[in-house]
Amino acid sequence: MEKFTVVGLVLVSLCQASPLPNFVLLFADDLGYGDLGFSGHPTSLTPNLDRLAADGLRFTDFYSTSPVCSPSRASLLTGRYQTRSGIYPGVLYPGSIGGLPLNETTIAEVLKPLGYATAMMGKWHLGYGANGTYLPTRQGFDHYLGIPYSHDMGPCHNLTCFPPNVKCYGFCDVGTVTVPLMKGETITQQPVDFVNLEDAYSDFATEFIRSSAQKRQPFFLYYPSHHTHYPQFAGWKSVGRSLRGPFGDALLEFDSTIGNILQTLKDTGVLNNTLVFFTSDNGPELMRMSRGGNSGLLKCGKGTTYEGGMREPAIAYWSGVIKPGLTHSLSSTLDILPTIARLAGAPFPKVQLDGVDMIDILFNHGEGQRKAIFYYPIDPTEKYGVFAVRMGQYKAHYYTRGASHSETTPDQDCRLISVLKYHDPPLLFDLESDPSENYNLSVKDHPELVSVLQEIKELKENFEASMQFGESEIGKGTDPNLAPCCNPQCSPKPECCRCEITY
Ligand SMILES: *[C@@H]1O[C@H](CO)[C@@H](O)[C@H](O)[C@H]1NC(C)=O
Ligand SMILES: *[C@@H]1O[C@H](CO)[C@@H](O)[C@H](O)[C@H]1NC(C)=O
Ligand SMILES: *[C@@H]1O[C@H](CO)[C@@H](O)[C@H](O)[C@H]1NC(C)=O
Ligand SMILES: *[C@@H]1O[C@H](CO)[C@@H](O)[C@H](O)[C@H]1NC(C)=O
Ligand SMILES: *[C@@H]1O[C@H](CO)[C@@H](O)[C@H](O)[C@H]1NC(C)=O
Repeated sequence: MEKFTVVGLVLVSLCQASPLPNFVLLFADDLGYGDLGFSGHPTSLTPNLDRLAADGLRFTDFYSTSPVCSPSRASLLTGRYQTRSGIYPGVLYPGSIGGLPLNETTIAEVLKPLGYATAMMGKWHLGYGANGTYLPTRQGFDHYLGIPYSHDMGPCHNLTCFPPNVKCYGFCDVGTVTVPLMKGETITQQPVDFVNLEDAYSDFATEFIRSSAQKRQPFFLYYPSHHTHYPQFAGWKSVGRSLRGPFGDALLEFDSTIGNILQTLKDTGVLNNTLVFFTSDNGPELMRMSRGGNSGLLKCGKGTTYEGGMREPAIAYWSGVIKPGLTHSLSSTLDILPTIARLAGAPFPKVQLDGVDMIDILFNHGEGQRKAIFYYPIDPTEKYGVFAVRMGQYKAHYYTRGASHSETTPDQDCRLISVLKYHDPPLLFDLESDPSENYNLSVKDHPELVSVLQEIKELKENFEASMQFGESEIGKGTDPNLAPCCNPQCSPKPECCRCEITY
């Protein structure tokens, strides 16, 4: 309770000294723990993220809630596990019938009643639905520019990913509409022009920040980037500039947009009143080999409940307010909504939240409130429950399984040949001394771990008892007629969904 008072004072003084804070949420796609310059990647070029890390608070133990995109995003925006909102199993597709239910409350909807301007650019991936039922504009975002799902969810074989005319690598998803670019609820390009996309995002962000600052309106900007998901792309300013090939150039392009956003915050005088938070949706897609990202010293990657699948780089930056440093506190994407709500003084949504605020971590460099991390697989079920639990330094795996997304790694555990396996007793790792999950601990050698395992078991049971699975939205299936088409009356679909719109 001591701490609580201190935090209260910090918040009160913040509120008195300045108007409501702004929030910028940066979310990378399939970017691994070991992919950034500041996390030790030797050839990544990320000067702006490096600066953010040096001047901000860097998390070493920050987690997403899923090893794949859509569920991870659902949790980020609602502060609730994907199992509650029904964003499982797997991910949404262009013609998906379901989407993030409209009665879920997103961060944008938490802030809007307080007078915030809200905007998002980039990858939504929480549904499109009949006539755009599930677009971000229906979930609290005033402005949207972006691709409503993954940018490989459409044929890309003949598209240009790098200037002057380097075709995208691979075929991406054939048999569906080409990838659209949307402004609000209108398709403005189909297929999207990858080479100029990032500049459009950067301009959109600049314009949004400038106009909000001019009106002295508090704002929330959510930028879930397509970078560094397959197929990598980049424009003229980034192509060929990193030593890391296409992946490095895509990452550099993302980094440059972050640089532009920071510069705009500074130029408009709002930098010291803005919390910037950066993290990634899930681990690297190792099956893409050198184009697939890197989880550093963590085991496996995307699709798995090993550390490489769900532990992410993360930074909180607030100039002059958050002291630079490093935190080992357990935190999750679930905790972002409660943190933002607390800082804005907004009431929490009246639903069962799974997140806790990170106020103590951000402002006191304290330990925070989070006791555990629960690891759901791609396809959570009530029968199996969570695959693993982390409590403090210990992680217990009840089930393990490899994943197609982590194919091609030399470690067999990551690959599809490692089928679902139940562990009784659970595999137990000390992530502080063994972050790579190499050494399964035996209670025979460490009798003190008996009580640890018991405590973890109780946490797991309590958590699972509290978990009510919502109806699966992804399980509602797909209807190809629902896929976005710039020319809805055309035939035959999907090939005819192409529009050269210039503006
Ligand atoms: C949203 O509506 C569905 C269907 O009525 C219901 O099952 C679910 O609990 C609601 N979710 C929230 C967050 O209110
Ligand atoms: C979408 O809207 C159009 C025009 O209002 C309507 O004709 C059509 O039936 C709608 N489609 C669906 C799937 O709801
Ligand atoms: C790519 O373009 C060529 C030439 O126009 C065409 O023959 C081919 O079918 C296209 N491939 C795909 C995958 O769209
Ligand atoms: C924040 O920056 C603005 C503009 O640079 C300055 O006027 C203001 O005093 C600063 N506020 C605080 C609390 O540092
Ligand atoms: C992990 O360690 C426990 C305790 O020593 C042991 O019972 C179990 O077989 C081990 N599991 C594996 C997969 O090595």
